Amino acid sequence: MERAWWKEAVVYQIYPRSFMDSNGDGIGDLNGITSRLDYLKELGVDVIWLSPIYQSPNDDNGYDISDYQAIMQEFGTMEDFDRMIEGIHQRGMKLVMDLVVNHTSDEHPWFVESRKDKENPYRDFYIWREGKDGKAPNNWGSYFSGSAWQYDEATDMYYLHLFSKKQPDLNWENSKVRENVFSMMNWWCAEKGIDGFRMDVISLISKRPGLPDGPKTPEALYGYADCANGPRVHEFLKEMNQEVLSKYDLMTVGEAAGVTIEEAKRYAGFNENELNMVFHFEHVGLDGGKHGKWTDKRVPLVEFKKVMSDWQTELDGKAWNSLYLSNHDQPRSLSRFGDDSPQYRVVCAKMLGTCLHMMQGTPYVYQGEELGMTNMPFADISEVKDLDSINAYHELSEAGLISKEDMMCFIRLKGRDNARTPMQWDDSENAGFTTGTPWIGVNPNYKEINAKAALADENSIFHYYRKLIALRKETPIIVYGHYALLEPDHESLYVYTRSLEEQKMLVICNFTKEPVDYVIPEEFSGAKILITNYDRDEAKGTIEVKAYEAIVLMKE
Ligand code: GLC
Ligand code: CA
Repeated sequence: MERAWWKEAVVYQIYPRSFMDSNGDGIGDLNGITSRLDYLKELGVDVIWLSPIYQSPNDDNGYDISDYQAIMQEFGTMEDFDRMIEGIHQRGMKLVMDLVVNHTSDEHPWFVESRKDKENPYRDFYIWREGKDGKAPNNWGSYFSGSAWQYDEATDMYYLHLFSKKQPDLNWENSKVRENVFSMMNWWCAEKGIDGFRMDVISLISKRPGLPDGPKTPEALYGYADCANGPRVHEFLKEMNQEVLSKYDLMTVGEAAGVTIEEAKRYAGFNENELNMVFHFEHVGLDGGKHGKWTDKRVPLVEFKKVMSDWQTELDGKAWNSLYLSNHDQPRSLSRFGDDSPQYRVVCAKMLGTCLHMMQGTPYVYQGEELGMTNMPFADISEVKDLDSINAYHELSEAGLISKEDMMCFIRLKGRDNARTPMQWDDSENAGFTTGTPWIGVNPNYKEINAKAALADENSIFHYYRKLIALRKETPIIVYGHYALLEPDHESLYVYTRSLEEQKMLVICNFTKEPVDYVIPEEFSGAKILITNYDRDEAKGTIEVKAYEAIVLMKE
């Protein structure tokens, strides 16, 4: 397989609003990020992905952009940005920016013009339709609840918004839209020196001709089934590749809601000239139910293994995987896939990290994951800031589908704000995140779970992640080896192998707190332990895999 820096890299995602506040206004900012670059360097990550930092009215925390070439005032200035990227590059790291071009803010000048009248030169930058019998043009739902259509009085027509009504969808059919987007991207690469893009909901940019009604399945309610992987998406990405991406040495990852393995081979295929990799949603959909993610269902291990393994084996040699268990839209991975109780928190976080980082693909660490940060005990809806959770809370409780108490419970398990509480730096007030009042509550467990304590403890999750990241750099089999699942039906253990030429690796992870016996396969007799989260110096014959234990064996 051809080597590439982005295949060998580990990415760290920063949610700027919640990472580090430098000026006491309670909101994380660019100077705050710059002040913490040494921490990231020590962790050993290669790439920093920043959630959006562009000018935005913040209906969806920066995923609603009103100027793609300006910095959000709350986050700082363009000079702060220049200093930050210089600091990143000086330390040998790279910067990947979020690219949100399925939609803009309704306050973007293009939309301000577009909604004025039907003859406006920007009218066709967005998707406008006549109503049907006084109702929305079709049955599509917004991902953030309600219809995907908003009626606009000025011209007596509706515009499409797959997300909030302050996020109107751009019309990618219009070549002027594409030209504007590509020239903005070229500016960030050529003038600002960024190293790549994470492309927000890029699988949704091509809408089906005629915008037909969708089936009323749960996915369709979220606009995915009708809009994901539309007929021209690959054509658009190939054009983007030709006009922008191919001119620089970038890392590109597409957030691809609704993507299947077959589709991923097109988006991220080695010879397709589109993107380097995509984020799929299959493993984070396993604990969903009839009201989408709003349930208390746990992820079934056997299904989880099947999903991860299918992606591992089917993309091997054809396309590249991105590996993630958490991001700013998902609850904390430790609380969701593991066990965040004080007794098992540390060992379990290390197990989950091992399970993910030993796979083929590029791993993503979400801020605080390296500390074992947990979900937040939100007591009341007034503490929640995320419009997705707030809308669903009202819509589902008012429709009598889920009680308010149950909704609060589901929000504590699945709400996006679990990942958005401030980064826990130390045990001082507000976890050292701000000297002011934080924009969202700090998790009360910060006195125990924080970066300062983790750095000082050589057995911490932080230092274990540092080791996982360092191992990947010195061990090509971790990056390029072929993957095979063992024990597919085992309900507690996740066991897989990697192989590259003569080398073989065995990864054993116990996803439960009950110890389980396991017989090490014959071919691993005499193998050495590469990394483990318990004190164990050998593993041969029949072993007892302890609570949330992870063992990686290497046979040369
Ligand atoms: C993506 C982002 C999410 C945002 C949505 C709309 O899913 O990750 O945070 O709300 O797109 O832009
Ligand atoms: Ca600030």
